[in-house]
Amino acid sequence: MSGVFVARMKALPWGLRIAARMLRARIRGEAALHDAVLEYVRCHAREGDPDAVLACLDRFAREKRFLMNVGDEKGPLLEELVASRGTQARIIELGSFVGYSAVLMSRLLGSPGDLFSVDVDQNATRVSSAVARHAGVGDRTTFLNGTLEQVLGQGTHGLDRPFDIVFLDHWKSAYQADAQRLLEHELIAPDGIVIADNLGTMFGHNDYVDWMLARDDFESTFIDAHVEYSNLKDRVMISRRQHTGASNGPSNT
Ligand SMILES: C[S@@+](CC[C@H](N)C(=O)[O-])C[C@H]1O[C@@H](n2cnc3c(N)ncnc32)[C@H](O)[C@@H]1O
Repeated sequence: MSGVFVARMKALPWGLRIAARMLRARIRGEAALHDAVLEYVRCHAREGDPDAVLACLDRFAREKRFLMNVGDEKGPLLEELVASRGTQARIIELGSFVGYSAVLMSRLLGSPGDLFSVDVDQNATRVSSAVARHAGVGDRTTFLNGTLEQVLGQGTHGLDRPFDIVFLDHWKSAYQADAQRLLEHELIAPDGIVIADNLGTMFGHNDYVDWMLARDDFESTFIDAHVEYSNLKDRVMISRRQHTGASNGPSNT
C-alpha cells in the first residue's frame, strides 16, 4: 500500500467531519464560506487588533467550518521567518483565502508594508482585504486578484523588485510553475526564502519538491507539522536561496 493511500485513509474521518459541517451550514441556510467568515470576524474580533482577528479565525475553523488557513501551529514558523527579515521585508504570498496569513505576516511589518497577496478567487480577494482592514493592517498588504501570471502580465505596481520572502500556499500543482515564474521575473532576492506549505504525504507527490531539491542555488529543509486544525501529518519546505554574489538573474530554471 502506498504512503499516499495510507495517509488519505487516515484523513477520511477528518474529511467526513468537514463535509458534515459544510452540509450543516447549507441546511441552516448560513452564508457562503467567505462571507460567513467576514461576518464572524466583524462580530467577534476587536477592530484594529490583528491578534484578536487571528484568534477569531482559529476559533471559526475549529468550532464552525474548516478553514485552510496556515493556522496556529505552522503560523509561528512563518512569523519567525518574516521576523528574521525585519520590518522592511518584501513579501509575496500566493493564496490569500480569507487573509489569515496576510494578517499574521503584515502585523510584523512597518507601515506601509510591502506584502502582496495574490488569489485567483474574487471572493477571497474581497474578504481578505476586508479582514485585513478590520485587523488594522489594511495599509500593509496589497491584495491582488488573479493568478501570478495574470498579475505579472498586468504590470502591477510593486511587482518589479525582488521579494525577501515567498509564501507558496495556493493550489499545490501550481507551486513549481509559479516559483519558476518568480525566478524568471527576478522576483526572488539573492538571499530570499521560499516557504511551501502542505507538502505532507496526504497531499500526494508534488513535483515542486524534486525540482527545488535538484537546484544548487537553493538549500532546502523540511519542517514536520500537522495539517491546520487537525492531527494529520503535514510538512513545510523552506528553501533559502544561496547568495553567490553573482547577478540575481534566473539560473538552473
Ligand atoms: C490554502 S488557501 C490560502 C491560505 C492562506 N495563505 C492562509 O494561510 O491564510 C489557498 C488559496 O489559493 C487560491 N488559489 C488557488 N489556485 C490559485 C492560483 N493558481 N493562483 C492564485 N491563487 C490560487 C484559492 O482560491 C485559495 O483561496
